[in-house]
Amino acid sequence: MKKIEDEVKAYGSDILLNEHHKQTRKDIQHGRMSVRSHMVSVAECSLLIAETLHIPCDRRVLVRGALLHDFFLYDWHNKEHANIFRLHGFFHPGIALRNAEKEFPLSEKEKDIIKKHMWPLTIAPPVCREAWIVSMADKYCSMLETLRRRGKSRVG
Ligand SMILES: [Fe+2]
Ligand SMILES: [Fe+2]
Repeated sequence: MKKIEDEVKAYGSDILLNEHHKQTRKDIQHGRMSVRSHMVSVAECSLLIAETLHIPCDRRVLVRGALLHDFFLYDWHNKEHANIFRLHGFFHPGIALRNAEKEFPLSEKEKDIIKKHMWPLTIAPPVCREAWIVSMADKYCSMLETLRRRGKSRVG
């Protein structure tokens, strides 16, 4: 696990040091998980999936795309933004991509990861294997984050 964490830091240090990225610590993604922690978890999980299933891919692209896939920069639970709350699932990949493009140089694969991570909601499927991996890792991590919250709320 140490190796995976180090790999995320090595490939994504500039992203992790970015002030807007640091601010995603205060926005909740699922349960009590911040958007920032969720993006780091998805990056680690993507590396693990590629390693475990022996999928040849660009691990730097995998990390950077995962660290930016939810870079939408608002709290989607905030009921003041009722429209965002309802349509967040459909629109946040495009918003995240626009925000990321403003702050980081992105490869076509990294753009594909951010834009398509909500597939099949985004209709157009991912075109590179890195984007498929991040999309699967995102769903897996989101499910665990949601189930943990529900588990905790039932117990107490
Ligand atoms: Fe997302
Ligand atoms: Fe996500």
